[in-house]
Amino acid sequence: MRLDEFLKKKRYFSSRTRAKRAILKGKVIVDGEVITKPSFRVRGGEKIEVLIDDRPEGYFKLKAIDEEVSLLKGAKRALDIGFGAGGFSIYCLENGLEVIAIDLEETELASELSRRAEFTFIKGDAFLMDLEYIVDLLLIDVTTEQKGTLSLLNKYSKCLTSNGRVLSVFKRPPIENEIKDEISRKYHTIKWITPEEKDEVYWIGKLR
Ligand SMILES: C[S@@+](CC[C@H](N)C(=O)[O-])C[C@H]1O[C@@H](n2cnc3c(N)ncnc32)[C@H](O)[C@@H]1O
Repeated sequence: MRLDEFLKKKRYFSSRTRAKRAILKGKVIVDGEVITKPSFRVRGGEKIEVLIDDRPEGYFKLKAIDEEVSLLKGAKRALDIGFGAGGFSIYCLENGLEVIAIDLEETELASELSRRAEFTFIKGDAFLMDLEYIVDLLLIDVTTEQKGTLSLLNKYSKCLTSNGRVLSVFKRPPIENEIKDEISRKYHTIKWITPEEKDEVYWIGKLR
């Protein structure tokens, strides 16, 4: 099999194009030798080293939050609103959760993950949908104004089990006072996290 195809198949990269790009940059080592030809043939028993991490930024964002507040602890099913590059979904799948993800467009990664029984992708506008799913983890990371994020939180909190947890990503801090007030009236806050060098704030919470 071609090396680029093999790397995609083994999930080192989310697409063959990305695998090819890394090979051409000299970032893939097969049995101790840097290989720069994407069509290089491999049989499958070779020692493969990949010098770059292809996982989307969201993966590391969610991982850091999970390490700080044990967000995924005990969770079995997540609703990922704003699939984007798939970082949140990949992190949840890697941690054994079933994932339902929504985005306006279906990417190559979303179609590929949809072949797995644990992953469902729904293409469409999250503001206009009416979903019946029940989940114990709700992830909201949609490029919209803070009021939009809050309205998604209010809309999809009905999908949460009583112990379920939420991560909502609010863009462009500081958080408006009305939003903070509404959140503290309706929900229980576990933590607000303001990361450095990011134009967003994370709210982690639960139903009251
Ligand atoms: C910042 S990205 C999400 C990144 C994602 N958490 C990750 O880990 O890669 C925001 C996503 O929200 C999606 N989005 C924006 N408006 C939306 C809407 N009305 N309904 C569903 N998705 C929407 C965008 O298409 C974009 O992919």
